[in-house]
Amino acid sequence: MAKSKIIAGLDIGTSNIKILLAEKKKDNSEMKVIYQAQELSSGIRRGVVVDVEKVSQIIQILINKVRIESGQRIDSVYVNIGGGHIFCNNSEGVVAVSRADRKVSKEDVDRVLEAAKTISLSSNEEILEIIPKEFIIDGKGGIKEVEGMQGGRLEVKVLIIGCFAPYKNNLTQAVFNADLKVSDMLPSVLAVSNAALNQKQKELGVAVLNIGAGTSELAVFEEGNLIHLAVFPIGSANITNDIAIILKTDIDVAELIKIRSGSCIFKGNGKKEKIELEDGEILIFSPKMVAGIIEARVSEIFGEVNKELKKIGKQGKLPAGIVLTGGGASLPKIVDLAKKELKLSCRTWKPSGFSGLEDGLIFATACGLVLKGSEDFGSGKKDQGKMMERIKKVFQIFIP
Ligand SMILES: Nc1ncnc2c1ncn2[C@@H]1O[C@H](COP(=O)(O)OP(=O)(O)OP(=O)(O)O)[C@@H](O)[C@H]1O
Ligand SMILES: [Mg+2]
Repeated sequence: MAKSKIIAGLDIGTSNIKILLAEKKKDNSEMKVIYQAQELSSGIRRGVVVDVEKVSQIIQILINKVRIESGQRIDSVYVNIGGGHIFCNNSEGVVAVSRADRKVSKEDVDRVLEAAKTISLSSNEEILEIIPKEFIIDGKGGIKEVEGMQGGRLEVKVLIIGCFAPYKNNLTQAVFNADLKVSDMLPSVLAVSNAALNQKQKELGVAVLNIGAGTSELAVFEEGNLIHLAVFPIGSANITNDIAIILKTDIDVAELIKIRSGSCIFKGNGKKEKIELEDGEILIFSPKMVAGIIEARVSEIFGEVNKELKKIGKQGKLPAGIVLTGGGASLPKIVDLAKKELKLSCRTWKPSGFSGLEDGLIFATACGLVLKGSEDFGSGKKDQGKMMERIKKVFQIFIP
């Protein structure tokens, strides 16, 4: 096996498409960032690729940038799939252990996982991931590593993550059209969890909330397992829109006001601020009012989080609290507001394990994708790019 590998993570976001190239050395746990860049998105609505050609063009611009500015040629990427169509379902499977000595074999594990996949999906839905929560042998549960154990009846409890297949196809096609192979496709929320959470937090009970531009994504872990996920169709772009409407100004100006003067909790002296517009006019606004707009939207997102946590009996009950990522988590005082609204310990993600990384919060998803690549490299897992190449050919048969 090679001593090092350069892995590319491509984050298809509503406001920006980001690329992160990092080098994984076999004998070093840290990833060295070789190159990172982002381009404004177009053709993506709330995390979903709605215009394949536009998205493909932006990916090509990024790949060219990588080649010119870092000298690296990329032919395959780890890519995320986001949007409100991503769903999760609990399921179970059961099989009889097949070997005469009653030892559970790898084939038994594969069969029981296959059995757990038989959930009712509508014709346009597709399974993305199947995550085992626990194995049960002859009624004894809580088992994580079941291979080699003895018994007659093997059961598994899993969490299935699925998506709306046509949206997945759009995303795959956009990447293929940019002449790239897909090494693997990960639900955004899983990518973010890879980057932002460690095993100890996952054992204790923790959540991650990635606040993007068009969506906010939540994942909850307990006893080391993903137990729930949800994607809300509200993000930081909603805040910009609210500011634009209330201050009767352009989106660009509203975005500038949010980034320069925004806060989730107002702590200033009540003085008005001014900003010079392109046409020379001066816009006077109240930072207190802006903070009020931001607080209302961010509280709405936290309200959605609380609803989901309540559904699974975890509201205010996650010992390792909640970690915030995504560009939307850059807002000052967001941690204070989260603690108040969610009644959980909270912090924003501080990237670790990546040397030379800039703009961590915005690159959290890309970091998680690269980490998936590094896991695959470490475990000697074959690149799925080749398999995807075959799928591409099948696609081309149907595409005029
Ligand atoms: N310093 C900052 N202060 C406040 N908001 C910020 C800051 N930097 C970025 N943002 C906001 O973060 C959002 C972009 O974040 P991110 O790149 O994580 O989203 P995305 O991946 O494009 O969207 P999604 O995940 O919803 O598809 C934008 O709405 C932007 O206004
Ligand atoms: Mg995102």
